[in-house]
Amino acid sequence: MDMTPESQPSVVRERRAGSTPLELAIILPTLNERDNLEPLVERIEGALGHGGWEVLIVDDNSADGTADEARRIAQTDPRVRVIQRIGRRGLSSAAIEGFCATAAPYVAVMDADHQHDPKLLVDMLACVKSGEAEVAVASRFADGASMEEWGRPDREKLSSVANTLARKLTGVELSDPMSGFFLLPAETARKLVPGLSGIGFKILLDLLATSETPLKVKDFPMNFSARRSGESKLDRAIALDFLAGLYDKSFGKVIPTRFALFGTVGVIGVGVHMAILYAFLLLGGANFSWSQAVATFGAMSFNFWLNNFLTYRDKRLTEAKKVFFGWVSFIVACSIGAFANVAVATTLHDRGFHTVFAALVGIGIGSVWNYALSSRFVWGR
Ligand code: GDD
Ligand code: MN
Repeated sequence: MDMTPESQPSVVRERRAGSTPLELAIILPTLNERDNLEPLVERIEGALGHGGWEVLIVDDNSADGTADEARRIAQTDPRVRVIQRIGRRGLSSAAIEGFCATAAPYVAVMDADHQHDPKLLVDMLACVKSGEAEVAVASRFADGASMEEWGRPDREKLSSVANTLARKLTGVELSDPMSGFFLLPAETARKLVPGLSGIGFKILLDLLATSETPLKVKDFPMNFSARRSGESKLDRAIALDFLAGLYDKSFGKVIPTRFALFGTVGVIGVGVHMAILYAFLLLGGANFSWSQAVATFGAMSFNFWLNNFLTYRDKRLTEAKKVFFGWVSFIVACSIGAFANVAVATTLHDRGFHTVFAALVGIGIGSVWNYALSSRFVWGR
Protein backbone atom coordinates (compact mmCIF):
# COMPACT_ATOMS: atom_id res chain seq x y z
CA MET A 1 0.00 0.00 0.00
CA ASP A 2 1.36 3.43 -0.92
CA MET A 3 0.89 5.65 2.09
CA THR A 4 2.85 8.73 1.12
CA PRO A 5 0.96 12.01 0.68
CA GLU A 6 2.78 12.63 -2.60
CA SER A 7 0.78 9.83 -4.16
CA GLN A 8 -2.20 12.26 -4.16
CA PRO A 9 -1.62 15.76 -5.53
CA SER A 10 -2.92 18.19 -2.93
CA VAL A 11 -4.91 20.27 -5.44
CA VAL A 12 -6.91 17.21 -6.44
CA ARG A 13 -7.48 16.38 -2.80
CA GLU A 14 -8.70 19.88 -2.07
CA ARG A 15 -11.16 19.97 -4.91
CA ARG A 16 -12.52 16.57 -4.00
CA ALA A 17 -12.80 17.46 -0.36
CA GLY A 18 -14.79 20.56 -1.25
CA SER A 19 -17.23 18.72 -3.47
CA THR A 20 -19.04 16.66 -0.86
CA PRO A 21 -20.71 18.31 2.14
CA LEU A 22 -19.09 17.56 5.46
CA GLU A 23 -20.87 14.69 7.16
CA LEU A 24 -18.56 13.09 9.68
CA ALA A 25 -15.84 14.38 12.00
CA ILE A 26 -13.44 11.74 13.22
CA ILE A 27 -11.96 12.90 16.50
CA LEU A 28 -8.54 11.51 17.26
CA PRO A 29 -7.35 12.34 20.77
CA THR A 30 -3.59 12.03 20.72
CA LEU A 31 -0.76 11.74 23.17
CA ASN A 32 2.52 10.82 21.50
CA GLU A 33 1.09 9.34 18.32
CA ARG A 34 3.27 11.16 15.77
CA ASP A 35 4.10 8.20 13.57
CA ASN A 36 0.56 6.86 13.56
CA LEU A 37 -1.17 9.91 12.07
CA GLU A 38 -0.32 9.88 8.42
CA PRO A 39 -0.97 6.16 7.86
CA LEU A 40 -4.24 6.52 9.76
CA VAL A 41 -5.49 9.39 7.61
CA GLU A 42 -4.68 7.19 4.60
CA ARG A 43 -6.68 4.33 6.08
CA ILE A 44 -9.62 6.62 6.83
CA GLU A 45 -9.56 7.82 3.25
CA GLY A 46 -9.43 4.19 2.13
CA ALA A 47 -12.54 3.47 4.17
CA LEU A 48 -14.62 6.59 3.58
CA GLY A 49 -13.47 7.80 0.18
CA HIS A 50 -12.25 11.28 -0.58
CA GLY A 51 -14.79 13.67 0.86
CA GLY A 52 -17.53 14.25 3.37
CA TRP A 53 -15.33 13.78 6.41
CA GLU A 54 -12.70 15.54 8.44
CA VAL A 55 -10.19 14.40 10.98
CA LEU A 56 -9.82 16.44 14.16
CA ILE A 57 -6.58 15.74 15.91
CA VAL A 58 -6.86 16.89 19.52
CA ASP A 59 -3.36 16.77 20.90
CA ASP A 60 -2.36 17.50 24.47
CA ASN A 61 1.00 18.98 23.62
CA SER A 62 2.70 15.62 23.10
CA ALA A 63 6.44 15.63 23.67
CA ASP A 64 7.05 13.69 20.45
CA GLY A 65 5.81 16.52 18.23
CA THR A 66 2.45 14.97 17.30
CA ALA A 67 0.86 18.41 16.86
CA ASP A 68 3.57 19.58 14.45
CA GLU A 69 3.22 16.40 12.45
CA ALA A 70 -0.56 16.96 12.35
CA ARG A 71 -0.01 20.52 11.09
CA ARG A 72 2.38 19.22 8.46
CA ILE A 73 -0.30 16.83 7.16
CA ALA A 74 -2.99 19.50 7.38
CA GLN A 75 -1.03 21.91 5.21
CA THR A 76 -1.65 19.79 2.15
CA ASP A 77 -4.84 18.12 3.29
CA PRO A 78 -7.66 20.46 4.34
CA ARG A 79 -9.65 17.53 5.70
CA VAL A 80 -7.22 17.33 8.58
CA ARG A 81 -7.49 19.83 11.42
CA VAL A 82 -5.43 20.32 14.54
CA ILE A 83 -6.34 21.37 18.04
CA GLN A 84 -3.30 21.61 20.25
CA ARG A 85 -4.00 22.06 23.94
CA ILE A 86 -1.35 23.32 26.28
CA GLY A 87 -1.76 22.86 30.00
CA ARG A 88 -4.72 20.51 29.70
CA ARG A 89 -4.83 16.75 29.63
CA GLY A 90 -7.32 13.97 29.26
CA LEU A 91 -8.94 11.73 26.72
CA SER A 92 -12.52 12.63 27.70
CA SER A 93 -11.97 16.35 27.58
CA ALA A 94 -10.16 15.97 24.24
CA ALA A 95 -13.21 14.22 22.79
CA ILE A 96 -15.47 16.98 24.15
CA GLU A 97 -13.19 19.56 22.55
CA GLY A 98 -13.74 17.77 19.25
CA PHE A 99 -17.54 17.62 19.62
CA CYS A 100 -17.63 21.38 19.99
CA ALA A 101 -15.13 22.21 17.26
CA THR A 102 -16.79 20.68 14.23
CA ALA A 103 -19.53 21.60 11.79
CA ALA A 104 -20.09 17.98 10.82
CA PRO A 105 -23.52 16.58 11.81
CA TYR A 106 -21.96 13.30 13.01
CA VAL A 107 -18.95 12.71 15.21
CA ALA A 108 -16.87 9.62 15.85
CA VAL A 109 -14.14 9.12 18.41
CA MET A 110 -11.39 6.60 17.86
CA ASP A 111 -7.86 5.70 19.00
CA ALA A 112 -5.11 7.21 16.88
CA ASP A 113 -2.91 4.12 17.28
CA HIS A 114 -4.63 1.92 14.65
CA GLN A 115 -6.30 -0.33 17.21
CA HIS A 116 -9.65 0.63 15.70
CA ASP A 117 -10.40 -0.18 12.09
CA PRO A 118 -11.80 2.87 10.24
CA LYS A 119 -13.65 0.54 7.84
CA LEU A 120 -16.27 0.08 10.56
CA LEU A 121 -17.13 3.78 10.31
CA VAL A 122 -19.12 3.17 7.12
CA ASP A 123 -21.69 0.88 8.76
CA MET A 124 -21.68 2.85 12.00
CA LEU A 125 -22.50 6.06 10.16
CA ALA A 126 -25.20 4.43 8.04
CA CYS A 127 -26.82 3.00 11.16
CA VAL A 128 -26.96 6.32 13.04
CA LYS A 129 -27.98 8.28 9.93
CA SER A 130 -30.89 5.98 9.26
CA GLY A 131 -32.05 6.44 12.85
CA GLU A 132 -31.70 2.73 13.61
CA ALA A 133 -29.65 3.72 16.66
CA GLU A 134 -28.58 6.97 18.32
CA VAL A 135 -25.10 5.75 19.15
CA ALA A 136 -23.03 3.20 17.23
CA VAL A 137 -20.45 1.50 19.42
CA ALA A 138 -17.60 -0.64 18.14
CA SER A 139 -17.38 -3.47 20.64
CA ARG A 140 -14.57 -5.77 21.70
CA PHE A 141 -17.02 -8.12 23.37
CA ALA A 142 -19.97 -8.47 21.00
CA ASP A 143 -20.40 -11.79 19.16
CA GLY A 144 -17.96 -11.91 16.31
CA ALA A 145 -15.47 -9.49 17.90
CA SER A 146 -11.84 -10.42 18.37
CA MET A 147 -8.76 -9.09 20.01
CA GLU A 148 -5.16 -9.30 18.91
CA GLU A 149 -3.73 -8.57 22.30
CA TRP A 150 -4.78 -8.00 25.86
CA GLY A 151 -2.51 -5.60 27.72
CA ARG A 152 -2.94 -7.56 30.93
CA PRO A 153 -4.32 -11.01 31.61
CA ASP A 154 -6.84 -9.72 34.18
CA ARG A 155 -8.09 -6.94 31.98
CA GLU A 156 -10.83 -9.05 30.47
CA LYS A 157 -12.18 -9.92 33.90
CA LEU A 158 -12.04 -6.30 35.02
CA SER A 159 -13.86 -5.32 31.89
CA SER A 160 -16.67 -7.78 32.39
CA VAL A 161 -17.26 -6.58 35.96
CA ALA A 162 -17.13 -3.00 34.77
CA ASN A 163 -19.53 -3.76 31.94
CA THR A 164 -22.11 -5.26 34.27
CA LEU A 165 -21.98 -2.21 36.52
CA ALA A 166 -22.13 0.07 33.52
CA ARG A 167 -25.30 -1.55 32.27
CA LYS A 168 -26.92 -0.88 35.63
CA LEU A 169 -25.74 2.69 35.60
CA THR A 170 -26.81 3.65 32.09
CA GLY A 171 -29.82 1.39 31.71
CA VAL A 172 -28.47 0.61 28.26
CA GLU A 173 -27.74 -2.90 27.04
CA LEU A 174 -24.31 -2.79 25.46
CA SER A 175 -21.39 -5.16 25.47
CA ASP A 176 -18.52 -2.67 25.68
CA PRO A 177 -19.37 0.56 27.54
CA MET A 178 -15.67 1.38 27.91
CA SER A 179 -15.08 1.28 24.18
CA GLY A 180 -13.04 4.15 22.79
CA PHE A 181 -14.61 3.83 19.33
CA PHE A 182 -18.13 5.14 18.79
CA LEU A 183 -20.21 7.43 16.61
CA LEU A 184 -23.23 9.64 17.29
CA PRO A 185 -24.93 12.83 16.05
CA ALA A 186 -22.78 15.84 16.97
CA GLU A 187 -25.78 17.65 18.39
CA THR A 188 -26.63 14.80 20.74
CA ALA A 189 -23.06 14.84 22.00
CA ARG A 190 -22.99 18.63 22.46
CA LYS A 191 -26.30 18.66 24.33
CA LEU A 192 -24.85 16.22 26.86
CA VAL A 193 -21.56 18.09 27.33
CA PRO A 194 -22.72 20.34 30.21
CA GLY A 195 -23.57 17.23 32.26
CA LEU A 196 -20.32 15.36 31.59
CA SER A 197 -17.55 15.10 34.14
CA GLY A 198 -14.83 15.30 31.49
CA ILE A 199 -12.35 13.57 33.78
CA GLY A 200 -10.53 10.40 32.75
CA PHE A 201 -11.31 8.38 29.67
CA LYS A 202 -14.74 6.82 30.04
CA ILE A 203 -16.34 9.32 27.71
CA LEU A 204 -18.86 6.94 26.11
CA LEU A 205 -20.06 5.73 29.49
CA ASP A 206 -20.30 9.32 30.62
CA LEU A 207 -22.42 10.28 27.60
CA LEU A 208 -24.77 7.32 28.09
CA ALA A 209 -25.13 7.87 31.83
CA THR A 210 -25.74 11.59 31.42
CA SER A 211 -28.59 11.26 28.93
CA GLU A 212 -31.94 11.55 30.70
CA THR A 213 -33.64 9.06 28.43
CA PRO A 214 -31.59 5.92 27.67
CA LEU A 215 -29.94 6.32 24.26
CA LYS A 216 -30.55 3.65 21.68
CA VAL A 217 -27.26 1.91 21.11
CA LYS A 218 -26.10 -0.56 18.50
CA ASP A 219 -23.01 -2.73 18.90
CA PHE A 220 -20.61 -3.35 16.06
CA PRO A 221 -18.28 -6.26 16.70
CA MET A 222 -14.72 -5.16 15.99
CA ASN A 223 -11.33 -6.68 15.67
CA PHE A 224 -9.30 -4.80 18.29
CA SER A 225 -5.84 -4.73 16.74
CA ALA A 226 -2.47 -4.37 18.35
CA ARG A 227 -1.14 -0.85 18.68
CA ARG A 228 0.83 0.24 15.60
CA SER A 229 3.51 2.22 17.39
CA GLY A 230 4.05 3.91 20.74
CA GLU A 231 2.54 2.67 23.98
CA SER A 232 -0.83 2.52 25.71
CA LYS A 233 -1.59 5.28 28.19
CA LEU A 234 -4.63 3.76 29.79
CA ASP A 235 -3.98 0.14 30.65
CA ARG A 236 -3.39 0.29 34.35
CA ALA A 237 -5.92 2.79 35.54
CA ILE A 238 -8.94 1.38 33.76
CA ALA A 239 -10.72 -0.04 36.82
CA LEU A 240 -9.96 3.04 38.93
CA ASP A 241 -11.26 5.30 36.25
CA PHE A 242 -14.44 3.35 36.12
CA LEU A 243 -15.05 3.51 39.87
CA ALA A 244 -14.32 7.22 39.83
CA GLY A 245 -16.94 7.50 37.10
CA LEU A 246 -19.53 5.73 39.23
CA TYR A 247 -18.75 8.00 42.16
CA ASP A 248 -18.91 11.06 39.97
CA LYS A 249 -22.38 10.21 38.75
CA SER A 250 -23.68 9.50 42.27
CA PHE A 251 -22.01 12.06 44.56
CA GLY A 252 -19.81 14.15 42.27
CA LYS A 253 -22.03 17.20 42.62
CA VAL A 254 -21.79 17.17 46.43
CA ILE A 255 -18.05 16.53 46.80
CA PRO A 256 -16.11 16.76 43.52
CA THR A 257 -14.56 13.47 42.46
CA ARG A 258 -11.01 14.72 42.39
CA PHE A 259 -11.26 16.19 45.86
CA ALA A 260 -12.81 12.96 47.15
CA LEU A 261 -9.91 11.00 45.69
CA PHE A 262 -7.42 13.47 47.14
CA GLY A 263 -9.08 13.10 50.54
CA THR A 264 -9.07 9.31 50.31
CA VAL A 265 -5.37 9.37 49.49
CA GLY A 266 -4.88 11.65 52.50
CA VAL A 267 -6.63 9.18 54.80
CA ILE A 268 -4.53 6.31 53.48
CA GLY A 269 -1.50 8.57 53.99
CA VAL A 270 -2.34 8.86 57.69
CA GLY A 271 -2.13 5.06 57.89
CA VAL A 272 1.25 5.14 56.16
CA HIS A 273 2.39 7.86 58.55
CA MET A 274 1.42 5.77 61.58
CA ALA A 275 3.09 2.65 60.21
CA ILE A 276 6.37 4.49 59.62
CA LEU A 277 6.16 6.25 62.97
CA TYR A 278 5.65 3.04 64.94
CA ALA A 279 8.24 1.16 62.90
CA PHE A 280 10.84 3.77 63.89
CA LEU A 281 9.73 4.04 67.52
CA LEU A 282 9.37 0.34 68.26
CA LEU A 283 11.91 -1.31 66.03
CA GLY A 284 14.51 1.39 65.70
CA GLY A 285 14.19 2.85 69.17
CA ALA A 286 14.42 6.34 67.63
CA ASN A 287 13.12 9.39 69.51
CA PHE A 288 9.66 10.75 68.84
CA SER A 289 10.35 13.97 66.98
CA TRP A 290 12.87 12.33 64.66
CA SER A 291 10.44 9.47 63.93
CA GLN A 292 7.57 11.92 63.42
CA ALA A 293 9.66 13.89 60.91
CA VAL A 294 10.58 10.78 58.93
CA ALA A 295 6.96 9.57 59.00
CA THR A 296 5.70 12.96 57.78
CA PHE A 297 8.15 13.00 54.93
CA GLY A 298 7.41 9.36 54.06
CA ALA A 299 3.65 9.92 54.11
CA MET A 300 3.91 13.05 51.92
CA SER A 301 6.00 11.15 49.39
CA PHE A 302 3.54 8.29 49.44
CA ASN A 303 0.64 10.70 48.96
CA PHE A 304 2.40 12.30 46.04
CA TRP A 305 2.89 8.93 44.39
CA LEU A 306 -0.69 7.77 44.97
CA ASN A 307 -2.20 11.09 43.87
CA ASN A 308 -0.12 10.97 40.73
CA PHE A 309 -1.35 7.46 40.07
CA LEU A 310 -4.98 7.90 41.09
CA THR A 311 -6.28 11.43 41.65
CA TYR A 312 -4.48 12.97 38.70
CA ARG A 313 -4.21 9.83 36.57
CA ASP A 314 -5.40 11.79 33.54
CA LYS A 315 -2.63 14.33 34.08
CA ARG A 316 -0.05 11.90 35.38
CA LEU A 317 3.56 13.07 35.57
CA THR A 318 5.71 10.40 33.97
CA GLU A 319 9.01 11.91 32.89
CA ALA A 320 11.67 11.55 35.58
CA LYS A 321 12.41 15.28 35.72
CA LYS A 322 8.75 16.26 35.98
CA VAL A 323 8.10 13.62 38.61
CA PHE A 324 10.99 14.97 40.66
CA PHE A 325 9.87 18.59 40.48
CA GLY A 326 6.27 17.54 41.06
CA TRP A 327 7.30 15.66 44.18
CA VAL A 328 9.31 18.63 45.52
CA SER A 329 6.47 21.09 44.88
CA PHE A 330 3.98 18.72 46.46
CA ILE A 331 6.06 18.53 49.62
CA VAL A 332 6.42 22.33 49.74
CA ALA A 333 2.67 22.82 49.19
CA CYS A 334 1.78 20.29 51.87
CA SER A 335 4.22 21.76 54.38
CA ILE A 336 2.49 25.12 54.09
CA GLY A 337 -0.85 23.30 54.41
CA ALA A 338 0.39 21.63 57.57
CA PHE A 339 1.23 25.03 59.10
CA ALA A 340 -2.25 26.33 58.31
CA ASN A 341 -3.72 23.16 59.78
CA VAL A 342 -1.81 23.47 63.06
CA ALA A 343 -2.43 27.21 63.36
CA VAL A 344 -6.19 26.92 62.90
CA ALA A 345 -6.54 23.85 65.11
CA THR A 346 -4.50 25.46 67.89
CA THR A 347 -6.53 28.66 67.77
CA LEU A 348 -9.80 26.76 68.00
CA HIS A 349 -8.49 24.56 70.76
CA ASP A 350 -7.28 27.59 72.76
CA ARG A 351 -10.72 29.15 72.46
CA GLY A 352 -12.20 26.13 74.18
CA PHE A 353 -13.45 24.04 71.26
CA HIS A 354 -13.38 20.28 71.66
CA THR A 355 -10.04 18.69 70.76
CA VAL A 356 -11.47 16.39 68.08
CA PHE A 357 -13.43 19.22 66.51
CA ALA A 358 -10.39 21.53 66.48
CA ALA A 359 -8.25 18.79 64.95
CA LEU A 360 -10.81 17.98 62.26
CA VAL A 361 -11.27 21.60 61.24
CA GLY A 362 -7.47 21.92 61.01
CA ILE A 363 -7.27 18.81 58.85
CA GLY A 364 -10.13 20.03 56.67
CA ILE A 365 -8.52 23.40 56.05
CA GLY A 366 -5.11 21.82 55.45
CA SER A 367 -6.60 19.39 52.92
CA VAL A 368 -8.45 22.04 50.94
CA TRP A 369 -5.29 24.11 50.88
CA ASN A 370 -3.13 21.18 49.75
CA TYR A 371 -5.68 20.25 47.13
CA ALA A 372 -5.95 23.76 45.73
CA LEU A 373 -2.20 24.24 45.60
CA SER A 374 -1.30 20.89 44.14
CA SER A 375 -4.08 21.04 41.53
CA ARG A 376 -2.64 24.32 40.40
CA PHE A 377 1.10 23.95 40.85
CA VAL A 378 1.89 20.24 40.80
CA TRP A 379 -0.53 18.82 38.23
CA GLY A 380 -1.78 22.09 36.78
CA ARG A 381 0.50 22.34 33.78
N1 GDD B 1 -5.51 14.29 23.85
C1 GDD B 1 -5.29 13.23 24.61
N2 GDD B 1 -5.07 13.42 25.96
N3 GDD B 1 -5.27 12.00 24.08
C2 GDD B 1 -5.02 10.94 24.88
C3 GDD B 1 -4.80 11.06 26.26
C4 GDD B 1 -4.82 12.38 26.82
O1 GDD B 1 -4.62 12.60 28.01
N4 GDD B 1 -4.60 9.81 26.77
C5 GDD B 1 -4.69 8.96 25.74
N5 GDD B 1 -4.93 9.63 24.59
C6 GDD B 1 -5.13 9.10 23.24
C7 GDD B 1 -4.09 8.14 22.76
O2 GDD B 1 -3.04 8.80 22.08
C8 GDD B 1 -4.90 7.25 21.83
O3 GDD B 1 -5.03 7.83 20.55
C9 GDD B 1 -6.26 7.20 22.49
O4 GDD B 1 -6.35 8.37 23.28
C10 GDD B 1 -6.47 5.96 23.37
O5 GDD B 1 -5.38 5.80 24.25
P1 GDD B 1 -4.55 4.44 24.31
O6 GDD B 1 -3.35 4.70 25.11
O7 GDD B 1 -4.36 3.90 22.94
O8 GDD B 1 -5.58 3.55 25.12
P2 GDD B 1 -5.71 1.95 25.18
O9 GDD B 1 -5.59 1.40 23.82
O10 GDD B 1 -4.86 1.42 26.25
O11 GDD B 1 -7.22 1.80 25.69
C11 GDD B 1 -8.26 1.26 24.93
O12 GDD B 1 -9.25 0.75 25.75
C12 GDD B 1 -9.95 1.71 26.53
C13 GDD B 1 -10.98 1.01 27.37
O13 GDD B 1 -10.59 -0.20 27.81
C14 GDD B 1 -8.83 2.34 24.01
O14 GDD B 1 -9.72 1.75 23.08
C15 GDD B 1 -9.57 3.40 24.77
O15 GDD B 1 -10.17 4.30 23.85
C16 GDD B 1 -10.62 2.72 25.63
O16 GDD B 1 -11.29 3.68 26.43
MN1 MN C 1 -5.10 2.29 21.96
